[in-house]
Amino acid sequence: MNGHGTTARSGAADLLIEARGVVRSFGRTPALRGADLAVASGEVLAIMGPSGSGKSTLLHCLAGILTPDSGEILFDGRRVDRMRETERTELRRDRFGFVFQFGQLVPELTAEENVALPLLLGGTRRAGALSEARGWFGRLGLDGLEGRRSGELSGGQAQRVALARALVSRPDVLFADEPTGSLDSLTGEQVMELLVGAAREQGTTVVLVTHEPRVAACADREVMVRDGKVTSLSPPRARPAPAAPAADRAGS
Ligand SMILES: Nc1ncnc2c1ncn2[C@@H]1O[C@H](COP(=O)(O)OP(=O)(O)O)[C@@H](O)[C@H]1O
Ligand SMILES: [Mg+2]
Repeated sequence: MNGHGTTARSGAADLLIEARGVVRSFGRTPALRGADLAVASGEVLAIMGPSGSGKSTLLHCLAGILTPDSGEILFDGRRVDRMRETERTELRRDRFGFVFQFGQLVPELTAEENVALPLLLGGTRRAGALSEARGWFGRLGLDGLEGRRSGELSGGQAQRVALARALVSRPDVLFADEPTGSLDSLTGEQVMELLVGAAREQGTTVVLVTHEPRVAACADREVMVRDGKVTSLSPPRARPAPAAPAADRAGS
């Protein structure tokens, strides 16, 4: 808690990601029309909004996957929108993790190879990367599935493998675009709990797109995207208080 409440977080010491006036169109279709957003380090932020409102485009701009037509994207004080492609590729590889609606596992690889992939791409040797990868399976309730390929996993299992892959390199930020969108609500909730739990455990900042209020309820804060702008902010959700007054409920 930085004591700034719901005020703009610009200038706060713990600000990690910021979008300022981001505009992005696809041909003649405007997707973002001046989106502003600030994400604090360690925060779990849910981005909500109707289909087609610009949520994915905003996420992709924040993550350096898409370049805005105008406006600024800052990560850790650096202008992501001004980086060369090689620099942005390194940023994504070294500091960010990604989960999408459909896990997008590499079908030719086993589950553990999929999880190890970011480490292998980062130069970790195979044995070390695989052993690190295996460490995630028990944690995510995936014991025994290490050798399966994506076609042999249920949707919920595949999303948990994708989650492990996103977190294995201990990214500073986890970007998730409707990570539970293809799952039934119970499985989706379990995946969300694992996602938020694992992220909090290692201090990973989470930027999560969802249109499910129950998923968003796991976040510290929600923002709403409408017509390409971030239109409404909820105040940071209070963390569970250690001693809530229960007096008036205690059988008086
Ligand atoms: N690659 C693309 N090519 C053309 N139009 C796109 C593309 N991506 C998004 N759009 C359009 O931009 C708008 C915002 O899309 P998007 O960011 O995907 O919204 P959301 O994730 O909220 O559903 C929509 O009108 C969509 O059709
Ligand atoms: Mg989308």
